[in-house]
Amino acid sequence: MTISPLAGLLQRSQQAAPDLADRLVAWQRSLGRHHLPWQRERDPYRVWLSEIMLQQTQVSTVLSYFDRFLQRFANVQALAAAPLDDVLTLWSGLGYYSRARNLHRCAQDVVNLHNGCFPSTFVGLQTLPGIGPSTAAAIAAFCFDERVSIMDGNVKRVLGRVLGWDQDLSVKAHERALWDAAQVVLPLSTKDMPSYTQGLMDLGATLCTQRKPACVTCPWLDMCAARASGEPERYPVKTRKIKRSERESWLLWLHWRDQVWLEQMPDKGVWAGLWTLPLLADEAHLEAVLGVDLATHVELQPRLKHVLTHLDWYLHPRRLVLDDDAAQALHGGLIERDASGRWVALSDLANWGLPAPLRRMLAP
Ligand code: ADE
Repeated sequence: MTISPLAGLLQRSQQAAPDLADRLVAWQRSLGRHHLPWQRERDPYRVWLSEIMLQQTQVSTVLSYFDRFLQRFANVQALAAAPLDDVLTLWSGLGYYSRARNLHRCAQDVVNLHNGCFPSTFVGLQTLPGIGPSTAAAIAAFCFDERVSIMDGNVKRVLGRVLGWDQDLSVKAHERALWDAAQVVLPLSTKDMPSYTQGLMDLGATLCTQRKPACVTCPWLDMCAARASGEPERYPVKTRKIKRSERESWLLWLHWRDQVWLEQMPDKGVWAGLWTLPLLADEAHLEAVLGVDLATHVELQPRLKHVLTHLDWYLHPRRLVLDDDAAQALHGGLIERDASGRWVALSDLANWGLPAPLRRMLAP
């Protein structure tokens, strides 16, 4: 008799438990990572901060940002009390700035609605801005030993392989089924939850990689369905890729007396809340801002390519050094375009929340 894929997954997860968790916990304790700065204490503030930073960013990049954030904002109260601009400035370079805005809102909710203490459950954590199910599970498991599974990209690969889940994970119900199976294989003892959760992350980052997984050293070698199939790299299956698009914009790089003209982006969109050079849709808009005469004097700078998950954004900088008369003549038009605009000294740029590619381009 053949059984449905779903029943097969459930059966395999029941058979694998509790051996699967025991092996992973033992492996993590002897061979996993133990020296990441957010592992030192089970402090929800530190764990939350690290998990948000790690959502779309590699560990090696996060390390220095994490330290700088803690130096500047030692606790959730300090973060909640800070101006959003300060948070965005410190976040500059990590990208995906909605994370920083949610971080700030979340800190304020923790202070204002929860007396400065993070909720201690998977369900309670998800009521906060920017905390989705997988991040809530990570905090609940690391800090409060709750038996709940994380489900990020690495974990989908690691558990999808060991349990041989060959259904398309771009279908929500198939992802849900894997998460249900993940709950079945959790350690029985709550005290093992932090090591188990870190083990899933460590295995995904070090052995069970997307390409060329190091199966021979894996603690699950003899129980892995993907390995048994001979083609572990075929798992997980995800057919629907993110639809990518392209966009072009022109950057007006006005330079006057060792200053540049910056504008603050609106609250929504890719660089929401950050400070940028004026962004224009095309050359015609550039000419409309500068006037025909000045527009003929712009200096073409190398094109920037900014790669986001859903978008390749091509930016064409046009630079113009202004004398006092030209700066004065342009001022009214620039303010009319965007009232947030202002001259900022090049020597002060470090104190402004600029997107990383612009910061690099403008560095004096
Ligand atoms: N990625 C997401 N969370 C992580 C963590 N706690 N340690 C290492 N990598 C991670």
